[in-house]
Amino acid sequence: MHGVYDILKSLKLGDHKWDVNNYDYVDIVNNLTDNDLEIVRLIDSIGDGELSAIGITIQHQDLVRKLPKELGCDFYESNLYGFCTITYEEMRHGFILKELASLVKNGKSFIENATGNHLYELMYETNTLYKNAYESLLSYLLGEITNIELYSSIESHIESNNFRKIIINIKKDEIKHKAAWIKIISRMVKSKDVHRKNFTDAVISSHFIHQAEVSNYFVQGANDVSRFFTTSTYKKVLEDKYETLIQIFGELPISKRDLFYEFSEYYNKKIKKVN
Ligand SMILES: [Fe+2]
Ligand SMILES: [Fe+2]
Repeated sequence: MHGVYDILKSLKLGDHKWDVNNYDYVDIVNNLTDNDLEIVRLIDSIGDGELSAIGITIQHQDLVRKLPKELGCDFYESNLYGFCTITYEEMRHGFILKELASLVKNGKSFIENATGNHLYELMYETNTLYKNAYESLLSYLLGEITNIELYSSIESHIESNNFRKIIINIKKDEIKHKAAWIKIISRMVKSKDVHRKNFTDAVISSHFIHQAEVSNYFVQGANDVSRFFTTSTYKKVLEDKYETLIQIFGELPISKRDLFYEFSEYYNKKIKKVN
């Protein structure tokens, strides 16, 4: 049960590394530079995208349930990791970003004023993006890669130490998540030909979907942080996605050029919707 061992190990690391309760948010916000106040205003919807990880985990469970048991049972690792680590760690990312944004934008604590309606929306009123559990699992992984580069870029623009430390903690979680999803998917791909085939089909149909798109705040968030997606950041995301897929599959049924083209086309259309 190698997979369960990894998941229990990741839980221990996750719980002890950093704690959302250990920050004096009012003090952090009061000491932000004008440059950093502007950055905090832009990360509000990113916080909603983080909280919607609970929504994708619920969707993933539903999709696993639709599979025949002989395939669904092999998703035990992604189910456990999604429920035990992802929902907890993405939740702390979401609450911490929204707490900072709320204090800066309207002087109120998000954590003290979060409503059931808002959280229900992020958990249950989500967009349906995936045809099957293979697509949702792949999206968990590929979304982390975008997040790592996004937080790296935000980090490089921040001037205040305490705010930068928070973003670095979040980024380190995303790096850890990426590594875990690679392990989980690689083990499945190697275990059965049917999993390899279904994941390969998922690469073609859904490699461009970001997990946070289940949230209705995704397009707003993507627009808000577009200034952090420079051409070089964008290239790093695409290169890392391609290299990660090659690492898992060895070879892909789609060329690097087509992979990049489809990804760009998808987001050009999607982001333009609100411009
Ligand atoms: Fe996150
Ligand atoms: Fe993550």
